[in-house]
Amino acid sequence: MEGYRALHRESIEDPAAFWLKAAKAVSWTTAPGQALDSSRAPLYRWFPGARLNTSFNALDRHVLAGRGDTTALVYDSAMLGTQQHFTYAQLRDEVAQFAGALRHQGVTKGDRVLIYLPMVPEAVIAMLAVARLGAVHSVVFGGFAPAELASRIRDAAPKIILTATGGLEPSRRVEYLPAVAEALDLAGAGGCPVIVKHRDGFTAAAADYDQPSRRWLDWDEAAAGATPLDPVDVEATDPLYILYTSGTTGSPKGVVRDNGGHAVALTWSMRNIFDVGPGDVMLTASDVGWVVGHSYIVYGPLLAGATTVLYEGKPVGTPDAGAFWRLIEAHGVTVMFTAPTALRAVRRADPTAAALGGYDISTLRLLFSAGERLDTGTFSWIRGVLGVPVIDNWWQTETGWPICANPRGLGGVPVKPGSPSLPSPGFDLAIVDGEGTPVPTGTEGTIALRLPLPPGALTTLWGSDERYEQAYLRALEGYYVSGDSGYADDDGYLFVMGRTDDVINVAGHRLSAGAIEQALAQHPAVAECAVIGLEDALKGQRASGYVVLKAGETIDPAELQRELVALVRKLIGPVAGFRDAVVVDALPKTRSGKILRKTMRQIAAGETYTVPSTIEDAGVLDSLVPLLRAGVPPPGR
Ligand code: COA
Ligand code: AMP
Repeated sequence: MEGYRALHRESIEDPAAFWLKAAKAVSWTTAPGQALDSSRAPLYRWFPGARLNTSFNALDRHVLAGRGDTTALVYDSAMLGTQQHFTYAQLRDEVAQFAGALRHQGVTKGDRVLIYLPMVPEAVIAMLAVARLGAVHSVVFGGFAPAELASRIRDAAPKIILTATGGLEPSRRVEYLPAVAEALDLAGAGGCPVIVKHRDGFTAAAADYDQPSRRWLDWDEAAAGATPLDPVDVEATDPLYILYTSGTTGSPKGVVRDNGGHAVALTWSMRNIFDVGPGDVMLTASDVGWVVGHSYIVYGPLLAGATTVLYEGKPVGTPDAGAFWRLIEAHGVTVMFTAPTALRAVRRADPTAAALGGYDISTLRLLFSAGERLDTGTFSWIRGVLGVPVIDNWWQTETGWPICANPRGLGGVPVKPGSPSLPSPGFDLAIVDGEGTPVPTGTEGTIALRLPLPPGALTTLWGSDERYEQAYLRALEGYYVSGDSGYADDDGYLFVMGRTDDVINVAGHRLSAGAIEQALAQHPAVAECAVIGLEDALKGQRASGYVVLKAGETIDPAELQRELVALVRKLIGPVAGFRDAVVVDALPKTRSGKILRKTMRQIAAGETYTVPSTIEDAGVLDSLVPLLRAGVPPPGR
């Protein structure tokens, strides 16, 4: 504990010295002389003047160190029943070849490349190839609908799109090409070239869309003729990727991550938090479309020279609740990382963990969990089942790596169930009230981070420093506001209570209440609506819609419900898991017309609440209380 505390103190008192030291673990073409550029505070940049290539650090560097024959990537598809191994040398060659193909298509440094791929090796190859070129990738999760894809295309303005013929879900095959075509049309970017990885079993093919006015190319053909590309040197401060995440409003925020700070922070986190290095096999059961996938399926394990397992499948049902245990045995997994929802799904399907009996999981040392609150019931269950430390860690797309975690590589600190432990070195955490004054120990408040944020955290939002400042930095001067509330105990352990804004966390996937409301509002019968997150036993939260009908509207409620569910699926995507919509007479509002979502959330969560003095009609709220307290009955379940 003392070792951790001293290191944390050092990182806050002299961040420049701390991170310059950490930077020595990264391979630079021009080593950093300066750690932090504060000249545009509160916009900070790490390692100005230094140069490197992230793909070189993730691949070539290990090959040059004589580890080319070590396995870098294992692709395990429960959907196809296949496995594929790539050594560091093979992965480097594949990446160099595909980077050459992208260059041949005219992609150069700084261009954006949008990646819309399922969990196949090409997703990893694509990300690293873009990084090798010095271009900027933006990966979009496959469960998003064309309209969401379109808004990301509009914002990032990619030079090219990389996709596959489809993705495999347990219940169906998801055709990607019609979705990409629709998104391009919606975004007014029909001419944007697309490279398509062919997967068997899908109806549409690249050739169906290839026209003189738009080039849709086959992946293998594009790669075959290309000249392998050497890593392109970039500034540490140049962007590596944009990853869109949901905010309060319907329009997603493009979190920008740089090259240098990212490489330094992730390398540091692998050693000191995750305790992963060469010889380790890491299984992160997430998706490359989320930040956990970016950081701990792709970049972190490869920067650390470990082996990473890319799993195409689900925790349950592909074929059973022993899926994770099979992966651990098959690949000798030493460290695993997943979301509480996945653990709850396994527990629900196999409460006694009977499936474990068939597997040898003795290689496993540690289990990490993030993406949502790890409830103490699930924590105790999984710790009992696996018999290894279970490490909750709290962070966000914006921060890129754990804000709070148990630093296992530093020897660890005692685990407290329900807490993601202590702030990672580099994160200066404060729990404050609305004015920015720290609240007493044990009191809930806004979780904020004193600026500057450490390397690896977002540097801005794509295309708008102003929006970045507005969204995160203006509410409390000198702080980044996380959007979560929580409290700290006497030992400084953090307990996260949940979001303070209108972000809903479904199965560890972050959704905007505003975006779902926009979708519901498109229904011709809906006059207005409010969407809030309700507690869900499996997925942590589920989005629940309350709609007011237009005057004289007589639509059958069950029919309306079906249409609203279909609308959200069409406009946001199946990932929203939207099922609950209920008709109410009116929504509670302030006199200025603002819907009292927070009060609705508090009532639904059974929390004490105060009715704002500005309420327009308290009777509206009173009539909603029984409905909110009961939770909306999930239809058809
Ligand atoms: N492409 C297309 N559709 C997708 C998709 C993808 N990549 N991922 C999910 N979907 C679809 C599913 O098919 C499902 O569609 P359906 O409504 O037609 O059945 C819908 O989106 C919801 O999917 P999901 O959230 O996976 O719920 P589920 O009920 O099918 O499965 C769990 C439940 C618990 C197995 C699943 O939620 C899970 O694995 N959760 C863990 C999530 C996770 O790892 N999060 C990490 C973030 S760090
Ligand atoms: P995302 O940006 O999609 O990773 O979502 C980040 C949000 O998920 C955070 O702001 C939290 O609300 C929630 N979250 C992530 N990890 C945890 C955790 N370990 N405990 C509680 N909430 C978490």
